[in-house]
Amino acid sequence: MSDLDSHYKPSNFSDKVALSFTKFLRFLADTFFKKRYGHRAVVLETVAAVPGMVAGMLIHLKSLRKMEDDKGWIKTLLDEAENERMHLMTFIHIAKPTFIERIVIMIAQLIFIVTYAIIYIVSQRTAHRIVGYFEEEAVRSYTEYLHELEAGKIKDQPAPEVAINYWNLPLHATLKDVVKVIRDDEAGHRDVNHSFANVIDERKTKETNNTKEKQITTKENLGGNN
Ligand SMILES: [Fe+2]
Ligand SMILES: [Fe+2]
Repeated sequence: MSDLDSHYKPSNFSDKVALSFTKFLRFLADTFFKKRYGHRAVVLETVAAVPGMVAGMLIHLKSLRKMEDDKGWIKTLLDEAENERMHLMTFIHIAKPTFIERIVIMIAQLIFIVTYAIIYIVSQRTAHRIVGYFEEEAVRSYTEYLHELEAGKIKDQPAPEVAINYWNLPLHATLKDVVKVIRDDEAGHRDVNHSFANVIDERKTKETNNTKEKQITTKENLGGNN
């Protein structure tokens, strides 16, 4: 299991933008949902299942255009989207969205698909960093949810059957167990997306170094010919 409290310290301007964007959305979510954790989970999981699918599709199309191997990224991202959708399928048994929330879900999906696709096309590394930071917040929110359940402020209840089957939980599992396994999933997505952003950085550094080396070699060769 990955370290639950792990936080990636922003290392450049793009990371700071990603973190500020995340904190702004966190503020909106906190203001809108307050302590209604079940409703919060339903609405936010409809958004969380978008980036993996959008990113997976864009890399898939790029792989076709460039006839290049994807190094397993597409499957990882589509699995992430599927896993997030299962979070939604679980929480829909815990909280039923209100009419206003259903409208928010539809508008948010429309805006988020377009926004995330644009960010991904403009800066793939920033897009993965944003998801990394979103997932840090998701881990935090599920920890708060768990504390409320443990303190008895929110009534615990039997785990939905869909969750027992998906995570192979014991038959007597409760919502607390479900929140724990979902939080582990979020920590996993956090680490994958931060590492994808890091891999893109490393690739760029390598490419820049290779170009510099080539330029130096060319200059040396030209110097030798004169
Ligand atoms: Fe999730
Ligand atoms: Fe997530």
